[in-house]
Amino acid sequence: MSKHSVQKQITTANIRAAKGGEPIVALTAYDAPMAEILDPHCDILLVGDSVGMVVHGLPSTVGVTMEMMILHGQAVMRGARKALVVVDMPFGSYEKNPEQAFENASRILKETGAPAVKLESGVYVADTIAMLVERGIPVMGHVGLRPQAVNAMGGMKAKGRTQEEWEQVRKEAQASADAGAFALVIEGVDEELAEIITREVSVPTIGIGASSRCDGQILVTQDMLGLFDWTPKFVKRYGDMRAAIAEAVALYANEVRERRFPGRAEVYSLSRKAVKQV
Ligand code: KIV
Repeated sequence: MSKHSVQKQITTANIRAAKGGEPIVALTAYDAPMAEILDPHCDILLVGDSVGMVVHGLPSTVGVTMEMMILHGQAVMRGARKALVVVDMPFGSYEKNPEQAFENASRILKETGAPAVKLESGVYVADTIAMLVERGIPVMGHVGLRPQAVNAMGGMKAKGRTQEEWEQVRKEAQASADAGAFALVIEGVDEELAEIITREVSVPTIGIGASSRCDGQILVTQDMLGLFDWTPKFVKRYGDMRAAIAEAVALYANEVRERRFPGRAEVYSLSRKAVKQV
């Protein structure tokens, strides 16, 4: 099948209906060529605000802007064929009130063409989720370890060490699902807590650092490909792209320095007759 042949696109309704079924496969994507590579293997491509850290070199996701998310969302939409593309709402674009969230979420949908947004869903954004969903904007929630709250949390620690944390994450999940989120990312929580939430909520849970007991899994693509020296405990490296890239670049640098690149195969030897005289 050619890459441009018509494939059935996965919808938020398909994801919602996948609760309790075959695990949902999700990865992050930030550009068109990577989206094209990942698309045949994934149900969801998340244009995560992790782009700020893994592409732009920011220290956290707090500095990510609407413009960054829209630009990367547009690129991913050009590469995706069948996977559902979800775009993260950046910090500061939805927390103030539902109206602010609608303005920014509708802008993301209009300017990227993506059909859904994700937001980090403390209990306080339940009203916002309900308002967006009512007005036609599908929302994926994100509970547990919420990276945009890094400054308030005092670091990126997994959740579920205390009874209070358990109750908090359960409430966040229930409130997001009740408000109409079509799925929930659960990040960095105790595995038993992830299992309980997965049982309690009616929508699929997609885990990252939340055990295999969720309805699906997501990882930051750059992490699972081994593009960084440091990876969190919950990441499994399925490749060592950093080493592969370094090896290829070293080879190129050597060949340039030894004048072995470009070789015969890479040069133009144009016939003089074909050159127009001026
Ligand atoms: O921004 C992101 O990549 C995410 C995933 C970690 C779920 O939110």
